[in-house]
Amino acid sequence: MNVLLIGNGGREHAIAWKLAQSKNLGKLYIAPGNPGTAQCGKNIPIEASDIDKLVDFAKGNNIALVVVGPEDPLAAGAVDAFEAAGIKAFGPSGGAAQLEADKAFAKQLMRSSAVSSAEGQVFERFADAKAYIASRDAPVVIKAAGLAKGKGVFVCDDPSDGIVAAEKIMCDRIFGSAGNKIVVEDKLLGEEASILAFVDGRNIYVMESSQDHKAIGDGDVGPNTGGMGAYSPAPVVTGVMMDKIAREILVPVVDGMNRNGTPYKGVLYAGVMVTAGGPRVLEFNVRFGDPETQPILMRLKSDLLEIMLAVCDGRLDEVTLQWDPRPAVCVVMAAGGYPGEYEKGKIITGIAQAEKLEDVVVFHAGTAAKDANIVTNGGRVLGVTAMGQTIADAKAKAYEAVDKIKFDGAYCRRDIADKAIKRTI
Ligand code: AMP
Ligand code: GLY
Repeated sequence: MNVLLIGNGGREHAIAWKLAQSKNLGKLYIAPGNPGTAQCGKNIPIEASDIDKLVDFAKGNNIALVVVGPEDPLAAGAVDAFEAAGIKAFGPSGGAAQLEADKAFAKQLMRSSAVSSAEGQVFERFADAKAYIASRDAPVVIKAAGLAKGKGVFVCDDPSDGIVAAEKIMCDRIFGSAGNKIVVEDKLLGEEASILAFVDGRNIYVMESSQDHKAIGDGDVGPNTGGMGAYSPAPVVTGVMMDKIAREILVPVVDGMNRNGTPYKGVLYAGVMVTAGGPRVLEFNVRFGDPETQPILMRLKSDLLEIMLAVCDGRLDEVTLQWDPRPAVCVVMAAGGYPGEYEKGKIITGIAQAEKLEDVVVFHAGTAAKDANIVTNGGRVLGVTAMGQTIADAKAKAYEAVDKIKFDGAYCRRDIADKAIKRTI
């Protein structure tokens, strides 16, 4: 069976790597892909945003399943377009993708489904937002309501910083139309976890837990990024906590989406804060997380293609998910300057040496092939991922691999997985 995977990040390399192990895979095409996905299938030079061209390609190449990786084409209705052409597509409809693409929609859905998140209000005018923020004397979180590549959230311990953030989003339009509305929330305290589940409209199959590291600096300092590393499982999510998250968050949201007339199919990702009062939602994503997917799929033993088809056919209850019990850790190597300005085109060496280590996979994200070299081509460049007997072993092995890889200005956090290690000793 031929599959078309859309996207070009570390997440898509991990999905391609896993799909390539499927017993029923015929040809795998990735549009546009990266040098990592090119090792798993054939890259096709069509941008993820060019939905018409992608549909034509799928029609002309006997594609039985399309997998949409990133949020932008999902929100733009890619899945609807493939389905209208009679092709199965893994991911939510454009309407259902509003759960990520419009944080005001998500807030409303959580309210009507009695799902716990931070107290918050939506604003469409800066003057109103400013007056509200100024009236508060507690930390605030300011969020662009639209899609902003994981960078649209400002956690402000001082409300006056919140006013500056709201002004940047609503008046300076640093995220363009994604800043037409903002959500102003209370700051929640606790430890974060990423809970990803396969959903077929009705059935929910929760994956192993994971934890991202959003901030650029060790100890979670500095601005937020798309994610600087991740590990799975996350010990903060005990079995009891996972049951609570499924019961109090995932089930009501999937029910709420059905009631709303936007049934949910694909991967539902709940970013939760495990607070003293229980789990509370920080955000929903309508796709696999990046970089959480890298350690999660490294641990998945079951056939991903089979699971994705079951999701599309509404028969998720017929498959089982089996996991490697060993933990996995992914360290993101980024270009110096990210998440601000950074340069591209730096030659990367040492990937092959790193991959010689047992249970290590180097997932490509912002890379490109140039002459005989692999060069940097984005902010998050590589996701160096390792499994180990313990989380500490997996961390040590991931950094051993990282240290073999060199490029000008390479930056990574050095503390990925430390929170988990602390909980397990
Ligand atoms: P989001 O894109 O909404 O997940 O936000 C990105 C990051 O901002 C989260 O992973 C948290 O680290 C932080 N964040 C978002 N909302 C809150 C909140 N209400 N309280 C504390 N931190 C938050
Ligand atoms: N790692 C966070 C995200 O994928 O949005």
